[in-house]
Amino acid sequence: MRAPTSANKRNKESDITVHELQPSLFTLDAAQAEAIRTAALTITADANTQPDDFNLQAAAASFSVPAEVRDAILNFSNFGSDTGILVVRGLIVDDDLVDTPLDNKGGIGAKTTFAKQQAVLAQLLGTMIAYEAEGNGHLIQDMVPNPKLATTQQSQGSKVELEAHTEQCFSDYKPDYVILGALRGDPDALTYAFSGRKIAKLFTPEEVAKLRQPLWATTIDESFQPFIPNPDAIRGPFPILNGPDDDPYVLVDQDLMHGITADAQKLLEKVVQVYIENRDAHNLQPGDLLMLDNLRAMHGRSMYSPRFDGKDRFIARGFVVRDRRRLWPQLLQDRRTVAAVFS
Ligand SMILES: [Fe+2]
Repeated sequence: MRAPTSANKRNKESDITVHELQPSLFTLDAAQAEAIRTAALTITADANTQPDDFNLQAAAASFSVPAEVRDAILNFSNFGSDTGILVVRGLIVDDDLVDTPLDNKGGIGAKTTFAKQQAVLAQLLGTMIAYEAEGNGHLIQDMVPNPKLATTQQSQGSKVELEAHTEQCFSDYKPDYVILGALRGDPDALTYAFSGRKIAKLFTPEEVAKLRQPLWATTIDESFQPFIPNPDAIRGPFPILNGPDDDPYVLVDQDLMHGITADAQKLLEKVVQVYIENRDAHNLQPGDLLMLDNLRAMHGRSMYSPRFDGKDRFIARGFVVRDRRRLWPQLLQDRRTVAAVFS
C-alpha cells in the first residue's frame, strides 16, 4: 500500500519522491488514555509465563482502542514517519510500579498495567514475539541501567553512548518494530532515530546507489553468540539501503558491521557521521510508548548517569513482527519465542 499521491512531493536535490512529513508524536487526551487502560485491564494472562495467551488477549482488547489512536498507529504502520518513530504520549502509569531493578532478570515491567497497555497498542503494528537469547527470553524485557553493564554496548548500558544500529542486523529473524514503553525516564537519556528517508536525502545519488550494493558484512552480537553453532561467523555482505527509492529500508550497525572494501568502510563511517549530525532525539517520559520502525530507521541512545537508587530510567521493551508465520520453524513450543539457536 502506498501513500496517496497528494501526500507525496518531489525532492529537487536528490530527485527522489518522498512522503510528506508524517507525524512522530501522538498525544492522548485523558479519555483516550482511560479507554486504553480499561481495555488493557481485560488481560488476565501473565506476560512472563503465558506469552501467547497474553498476546491473544491483547489483540482482542485492541478493538476497544479509540479510533483516533488506532488511525495514528495504523498510519505509522502503513506510511512510517519522517523520523522512523511514533511516540504515543500520555499512557497511564499505575501505582503498581515497583522500584527500578538493577538487572533484567525479573520480568518486573511485564507485570504492570502499563505493559498490558503497551501490548494492546502493539497489536496494531503486528504481534509481539520474544527472543530466547535476549532479555532472558521475556516477551517484555526490563531495560534498566545495570551497574555491571554500565559501559557496555548492551541495552542495559548507561554511561556510554549506545552506538547506531538497527536491531539484530545479523539475523534473518529480526523484529519489524522495537517498542519502548517508559515507566520511568531520565532527563539525560535521549533515544536517537534516523530514518532511511533522511539518509537518502542527505547522500548524493552516487552514494545512495553504492549504499544499495551488498558491500557490508557483519559479526554476530555478543549476547547471541553463546547460543549458536558458528558464533564467529561473518554474515553478509548486505546492502545498507534497500527497498523503495522514496522510502528505503536500512540495515546498519556501527559496532558489528564493516565494509568489505576500503571505500565501503569509508561510506559506513560517513553514514555514522551523518547520523550523529542529523539524528532525531526523543527524551522518553513516563507514559510514553515509543514505536521504532526497525526496517525504516536506525537508532541509538545517549549516555546518562543512573543513581542505582530504585528510581532510575525503567523501559519495558518489546519486539513486534508483522506476521509470526514467517518464523514458524524457528519458534519454540510457546509459538512466541525465537529459539536462541537460530539467532
Ligand atoms: Fe537497539
